Amino acid sequence: MSERVVLVTGGNRGIGFAIAEEFVRAGYSKVAVTVRSGEGPAGTTAFKADVTDAASLDAAFTEIEAALGPVEILVANAGITRDTLLMRMSDEQFEEVVNTNLNGVFRVLRRATMGMIKKKHGRVILIGSVVGLLGSAGQVNYSATKSALVGMARSITRELGSRGITANVVAPGFIDTDMTSALPEDLIADYKKKIPAGRFASPSEVAKVVTWLASDDAAYISGAVIPVDGGLGMGH
Ligand code: NAI
Repeated sequence: MSERVVLVTGGNRGIGFAIAEEFVRAGYSKVAVTVRSGEGPAGTTAFKADVTDAASLDAAFTEIEAALGPVEILVANAGITRDTLLMRMSDEQFEEVVNTNLNGVFRVLRRATMGMIKKKHGRVILIGSVVGLLGSAGQVNYSATKSALVGMARSITRELGSRGITANVVAPGFIDTDMTSALPEDLIADYKKKIPAGRFASPSEVAKVVTWLASDDAAYISGAVIPVDGGLGMGH
């Protein structure tokens, strides 16, 4: 069993749930998830937090540290979409996505790295997206936040790389979750034609890459963008 404390944001469903579940399966005994509602998978402890609310996050971190210890493996997974074409995108649609997907990651990161520096060990894994580098019509807000995570991971690598901390982006392509089930049928069929693998992935296919990146085997990988996209984004 690994005693390292793992935190996955947005662990009550989708990719975050699968990641937390995979850490438990891999033998981690201290897996925390943040939720806004609901629970994480069996074997994890849920803490209420909203990444757009610094006070709720700070309170969750204080509770996690008291219950399990300082976070050594952070998976910043919580994210939203508010898709529409640029000309129709409101300030609110842009800012809501930035506030969750980018500012939210910053808030979690700042709070988590303190403990990692003390431990001289840490893993920062940011859940980006293939569209961060590929771009996507109708996702100017979302893709901008996801490409920003690359700069973030690389800057953390430069700031904290000598302290045993790695920071990487995992960039999923299309994964079968609530986020993609909201897409229209014809668009799903069209995307599948463009993906060399010819299919969407299951959340567990992303989760297994994340647990590997968190392991000692991946200690020399930092500042990288690891695609899990069936070949959709290659060349970027
Ligand atoms: P989902 O919509 O099923 O789950 C998102 C999770 O984030 C939920 O647990 C939700 O409560 C949480 N969340 C959202 N806003 C939050 C906030 N303000 N504070 C705290 N938690 C919040 O989405 P899914 O598909 O599981 O996506 C997870 C991550 O993977 C996201 O960052 C998403 O952008 C990314 N991703 C998903 C892809 C897909 O095909 N499903 C593809 C590429 C990236």
